[in-house]
Amino acid sequence: MGARKFFVGGNWKCNGTVKSVESLVDTLNNGTVPGADVVEVVVAPTAVHIPLVQSSLRKDFAIAAQNAWVKGSGAYTGELSAEILTDLGIPWVILGHSERRALIGESSELIADKTKYCLDKGLGVILCIGESLEEREAGKTFEVVAGQLAPVAEKISDWSKVVVAYEPVWAIGTGKVASPEQAQETHAQIRAWLAEKVSADVAGATRIIYGGSVSASNSDTLATEKDIDGFLVGGASLKPDFLKVINSAT
Ligand code: G3P
Repeated sequence: MGARKFFVGGNWKCNGTVKSVESLVDTLNNGTVPGADVVEVVVAPTAVHIPLVQSSLRKDFAIAAQNAWVKGSGAYTGELSAEILTDLGIPWVILGHSERRALIGESSELIADKTKYCLDKGLGVILCIGESLEEREAGKTFEVVAGQLAPVAEKISDWSKVVVAYEPVWAIGTGKVASPEQAQETHAQIRAWLAEKVSADVAGATRIIYGGSVSASNSDTLATEKDIDGFLVGGASLKPDFLKVINSAT
């Protein structure tokens, strides 16, 4: 963990009804968590649920959008711009999630352009990277994550508002969590890559969080690894379990 503040994101993906969102916010609001000086918590509801969450969520938790367009507002049907998000007071955006890479076909180049645009407009970016099962089995994990990071490093110079989320695709929504050793190994490789390609300062300061079947039963152990600075949680972020994951910060 070190000097980097622990970061826990809840990616609600394409889930929720008004009723379930109200109930989840109520659960989060009534939970006990460490102070904002110890852990930064961000939840990412669907875009249409954002105003509801914004008006009711405890103020020590922040909100992220799950995606943003690569350019400003304009004739881009179905998209959300960084300008719209900042106007609403949304501080964070998730970019490059593997579901968007795989299902929508977003390339690492496009994600790098989005990252640059959103950072330039003042958003914090949770940048998702990660390998598929085939790539891991072929021994290509590091090559894949480095290839996803490289276009970003070419386009941005200020990493202070970037959180890197390492999410091995084979661990997402499968119940197959990476072992603490597997996650730590890749996190350390990502940090070493940042040190070599960007700078030692950026490598030391950038939060690298893990995502993929994180739950109340594995977060404490994963959190003890020195290069795991938090989590990006999918399924468990829709349940009271999320509070336990947040509490693994201490
Ligand atoms: O972004 C979070 C994510 O993809 C992990 O999802 O359901 O495996 O925790 P889940």
